[in-house]
Amino acid sequence: MSDQIFAFGLGIGTQNKEGDWLEVFYPTPSTNAEQSTLDALLESTNYEGGNSTLVLEEGDLNRLHMSLLKAGNIEQAELASRLKASTQPVVLCVLATNEAPTNPAEAYLKLQLISHRLAQPHSVVLDGMFGLLINTAWTSEGPIDVRELADRQLSARMQGRTIEVFSVDKFPKMLNFVVPTGIRVGDGARIRLGAHLGEGTTVMHEGFVNFNAGTLGSSMVEGRISAGVVVGNGSDLGGGCSTMGTLSGGGNIVIGVGEKCLIGANAGIGIGLGDRCTVESGLYITAGSKVAVLDENNQVVSTVKARELSGQSDLLFRRNSETGAIECKTNKTAIALNEALHAHN
Ligand SMILES: CC(C)(COP(=O)(O)OP(=O)(O)OC[C@H]1O[C@@H](n2cnc3c(N)ncnc32)[C@H](O)[C@@H]1OP(=O)(O)O)[C@@H](O)C(=O)NCCC(=O)NCCS
Repeated sequence: MSDQIFAFGLGIGTQNKEGDWLEVFYPTPSTNAEQSTLDALLESTNYEGGNSTLVLEEGDLNRLHMSLLKAGNIEQAELASRLKASTQPVVLCVLATNEAPTNPAEAYLKLQLISHRLAQPHSVVLDGMFGLLINTAWTSEGPIDVRELADRQLSARMQGRTIEVFSVDKFPKMLNFVVPTGIRVGDGARIRLGAHLGEGTTVMHEGFVNFNAGTLGSSMVEGRISAGVVVGNGSDLGGGCSTMGTLSGGGNIVIGVGEKCLIGANAGIGIGLGDRCTVESGLYITAGSKVAVLDENNQVVSTVKARELSGQSDLLFRRNSETGAIECKTNKTAIALNEALHAHN
């Protein structure tokens, strides 16, 4: 038995009629628990090691509360005590190791580790997650397996209620699970659970952040951050801009954006950017695009495919408004973030 566990969470889950987990809400998931906490889980519940998902009854929670108190883990002890009053199933999910998830409860724990900033995008193994998650209607009466929705809608109507369906998706809104500190979000529907929003990030209504992706620090996001894309501190995404999930033109290299970059309004990147790069508004750079590299006097030094410039720092990309050619120059005026935009988080 290893003496440290990767992560664990106590939470409240929703099951479909078959007893499969649709989702689990873990208010305070935890990583790298101490040995004493692991011992508390082992001695007070049916947890016997490994990666495991258990439903806890009141008696389990009583014992867990006492054991966690003894172990000095006050936060989790208090949560265990509070959950005794839950009318919904209480779940203990323990991940001894960071292996691919084997059920939705494990996948939800991992997504919440990212959104709680306990793990950065790409640091948790999510292989096979899509196949595990159940397509769910997120409604005013909670999560409902989409296959059970029509029946629930009829029942509700017969009692004079209308179920409001907000979305049908394998992923819920991040904000319904966690609101990390120091962020602003214009429209909660645009941030999926599993997004990572750094301290000081603002996502305007037009912005979007997928799971296993996001910002590491202060950013103004008015464009779309695709699954897997990570944006460094101080970089801004202009209105309607797009980031491709992988290096465009095939392959599975996930692109990233460094620090202090600006992707202009309606621009897009299919290559990664290093630090202090700017992409002109409206310019979409795909990996195979031919790019004229200019010197200080705007003379063409060479022509390369954009993928050869992927990840390099201090570049300014623009489309020559006279010739239509994509050009790349040294970025002399790396953007300075408008402090006022970020001052109110
Ligand atoms: C690409 C960009 C950064 C260039 O801005 P800049 O560095 O301030 O450059 P300037 O507009 O001062 O232009 C510098 C020179 O390059 C020329 N130039 C600029 N863009 C050009 C283009 N696409 N083709 C040819 N020449 C161009 C200018 O005419 C100017 O020439 P000059 O030295 O002879 O006067 C800017 O146009 C841009 O797209 N910014 C993004 C803004 C944005 O979208 N923000 C997010 C809002 S939500």
